[in-house]
Amino acid sequence: MSTTTPEITATDTRLDVEAIRRDFPILHQQVHGHPLVYLDSAATTQKPQCVIDAVVRYYREHNSNVHRGVHWLSEQATEDYEQARRTVQRFLGAADTREIVFVRGCTEAINLVAHSWGRSNLQAGDEILVSHMEHHSNIVPWQLLCEQTGAVLKVAPIDDDGALIFEQFERLVGDRTRLVAMVHVSNALGTINPVERVIERARAVGAKVLLDGAQATAHLKIDVQALGCDFYCLSGHKLYGPTGIGVLYGRRDLFEAMPPYQGGGDMIKSVSFEKTTWNDLPYKFEAGTPNIAGPIGLAEAIRYVEAIGLDRIAAHERDLLQYGTKLLEAVDGLRLIGTAPSKAGVLGFVLDDVHAHDVGTILDRQGVAIRTGHHCAQPVMERFGIPATARASLGVYNRREDLDVLAEALREVIDVFR
Ligand SMILES: Cc1ncc(COP(=O)(O)O)c(C=O)c1O
Repeated sequence: MSTTTPEITATDTRLDVEAIRRDFPILHQQVHGHPLVYLDSAATTQKPQCVIDAVVRYYREHNSNVHRGVHWLSEQATEDYEQARRTVQRFLGAADTREIVFVRGCTEAINLVAHSWGRSNLQAGDEILVSHMEHHSNIVPWQLLCEQTGAVLKVAPIDDDGALIFEQFERLVGDRTRLVAMVHVSNALGTINPVERVIERARAVGAKVLLDGAQATAHLKIDVQALGCDFYCLSGHKLYGPTGIGVLYGRRDLFEAMPPYQGGGDMIKSVSFEKTTWNDLPYKFEAGTPNIAGPIGLAEAIRYVEAIGLDRIAAHERDLLQYGTKLLEAVDGLRLIGTAPSKAGVLGFVLDDVHAHDVGTILDRQGVAIRTGHHCAQPVMERFGIPATARASLGVYNRREDLDVLAEALREVIDVFR
């Protein structure tokens, strides 16, 4: 395993962003004749060299199937894979590696809970409560589950800043609530939800809580035991790790009681036509040959952010968010969408008389990468009465200069349309 030591100025709590940027080879290129300004980390983060190396090293030196072979390569691959699970367990503050299941990402994690826990625990009239700011992946699996079980999906409203209206959320939690499924940090608005209070309220009625941490884990320190949630999920590619790998954390007693999600190799203890028995946790939920390079790359990414320090990353991004907010507020005809008091590094906005897609296309010509559209959160767009937003989102490698370039480029967009 490689050592991960991003260069950080020793005495300063601020980040040496230029040193960090040197860890990310992709950032040092020209796009349409301009230096790339990458402001799309909420869609996916870029990967530091150490993560790329860890994946390459696995394929070059240890590639083999896990949990099956008696030979040296298979033992190495299994050790790397299980070591990655231990890294994730520690990173999330889980009590046990049996509570860490590798999945493709948050989407698969939520589908797993909906299929396995949901189908065996919900019945007609039971309620699942989400917020109005969910990503589609934390809406549609519950809608499918409701169709299958007769359960009912309830939606906690958000205010004009994009913050959860907590009093209304509280009122929607009742005797019939079985599950609260909520985004920790909104990808479309940046809102950080008051998850401690959400969990406290849900627990008061015995409801389970699933938190969608897709946008949280690269920016906030997570401790699932301190939080007391039942399920927590993350996507590796939003945490400087590879695509196609994510994690579902689940409380062990819940996981023990849940039926498998998919059937196949590895998830069984024994198979016969008369009776098949399930493997122990977490393998019961990992059918088939898993993505092996993915967890290895993800574990390296975790070591990378931990070496920098999540607190320092959060402070850095807070500074950028404040700076960027001021810059964008000063752009004529720009309206920020998502202005909650508790917010992570997402700057969503609309420009008067210019469609978000045009904004994105013109910015791209200047080397600025942002995302435009509904961000897989159509109910958020509907709540604000807009078809789409343009969204600049921040990562550890962003600098104030990136936001200066963005603001300047936006002024040029406005000139084009006037
Ligand atoms: C808040 C949130 N939840 C869930 C997802 C889905 O993650 P993935 O596509 O990695 O499964 C995303 C992806 O953008 C997201 O931002």
